[in-house]
Amino acid sequence: MTESLTVRDNRTGQEYDVPITDGTIRAADLGKIKADDETPGLAVYDPGFVNTASCRSSVTYIDGDKGILEYRGYPIEQLAEHSSFLEVAYLLIHGHLPSKEEHDAWVHEITYHTFVHENVKTFMQGFRYDAHPMGMLMASTGALSTFYPESRDISDEQNRHMQMVRMIAKMPTLGAWAFRHAQGKPYVYPDNDLSYTGNFLSMLFKMSETKFEADPRLVKALDTLFILHADHEQNCSTNAVRSVGSSQVDPYSAVAAGVGALYGPLHGGANEAVLRMLKRIGSKENIPAFIEGVKAGNERLMGFGHRVYKNFDPRATIIKKACDDVFEVTGVNPLLEIAKELEKIALEDEYFVKRKLYPNVDFYSGLIYEAFQFPPEMFTVLFAIGRTPGWLAQWSELVTDKEQKIARPKQIYTGDRTLQFTPASQRWA
Ligand code: CMC
Repeated sequence: MTESLTVRDNRTGQEYDVPITDGTIRAADLGKIKADDETPGLAVYDPGFVNTASCRSSVTYIDGDKGILEYRGYPIEQLAEHSSFLEVAYLLIHGHLPSKEEHDAWVHEITYHTFVHENVKTFMQGFRYDAHPMGMLMASTGALSTFYPESRDISDEQNRHMQMVRMIAKMPTLGAWAFRHAQGKPYVYPDNDLSYTGNFLSMLFKMSETKFEADPRLVKALDTLFILHADHEQNCSTNAVRSVGSSQVDPYSAVAAGVGALYGPLHGGANEAVLRMLKRIGSKENIPAFIEGVKAGNERLMGFGHRVYKNFDPRATIIKKACDDVFEVTGVNPLLEIAKELEKIALEDEYFVKRKLYPNVDFYSGLIYEAFQFPPEMFTVLFAIGRTPGWLAQWSELVTDKEQKIARPKQIYTGDRTLQFTPASQRWA
């Protein structure tokens, strides 16, 4: 039996049957509901797409009530523990786990493409000394489209594959150079003997030594953080990638839009806010007064709450464990004690329990990044590197989806109509 919705338009008394598929109705079906032939059909007003599905996707599944996150059907907990970032990137983009041959070829391809054209370096060196690394990353990602003009041919599968490999390979190079730029240090070229994440750390921190090899526990922890950030279905930046990509522009330009969206404090910037909050609290004794301030509505407990997760954020649990691994190498960040106590007190407090507010991925990630000695401006760059395979998997799905069209939402017009224009010479006379 076909599921449907019967809608009665009280303006006209007419009834309509609207089919329900996959728990949704088609907005276009509502368009058939009209008060009269002169007025446009019924539309849906949904700022922020709070209850609108913009696509069909088989990349990532989230059940916010149950705290479930799966990439291509695999639970995030299993991937974080047993996989690597590049294997997860393969999974997201290809839709299945790689065979040994596929894995080795994928890792080889990505490793081979880590270098960027020398002119990219000159371009990046042109930024002001205090340029924000996310601004540099956004601009240099977009600039790559000019180095690979063939990327505009998005109808060719081989070509799409090549650009996706290039982008995953070059993001750490661009991100690391943005970091070095802010520090006034020479840019470090990729070391292709190292793993993806090991090479990234080398490009960040290498000085005069001939080879820089980070502690394997740090490499593993950062690789895990990349896995946790690799995709999160239709979030703000992914929506930006899809929206810009729907014009059939090249993928570098579409991903640059994603980097721009991630730059904003409501999306990629929350972990930095957590650190600032913990530093302001300063010591465990000050926590109760801080919590009272949050409950009085003076401010938010940053790193708590989520639009989707209303039980727990599965990524937060994994990050908490990664914290312990990192601090074993770097020594404990004194803010960790405050964070743990704050979490404990909040989770027992009626205010947070009633509103289903739990620690999210950002509650502990800033502490880890600080232990790596990243300045807060770099936190979002790390997020962007991790999110790149997700953006590309979603972009690839978009451009091969026959149902997709150029993104073009409707509006409710609230301005004036049919005013009579008087030339400036008369208005100002
Ligand atoms: N501290 C105190 N109260 C909160 C918080 C918080 N962190 N988050 C939500 N609330 C309260 C809010 O005041 C409201 O209370 P009331 O019903 O009395 O008005 C209720 O909980 C519902 O909040 P909401 O703002 O309607 O929820 P939302 O789904 O629109 O917001 C959120 C989700 C993540 C923006 C919000 O929880 C928040 O601002 N958290 C702090 C910032 C943060 O940690 N952001 C990172 C999100 S995870 C990153 C990612 O996945 O990309």
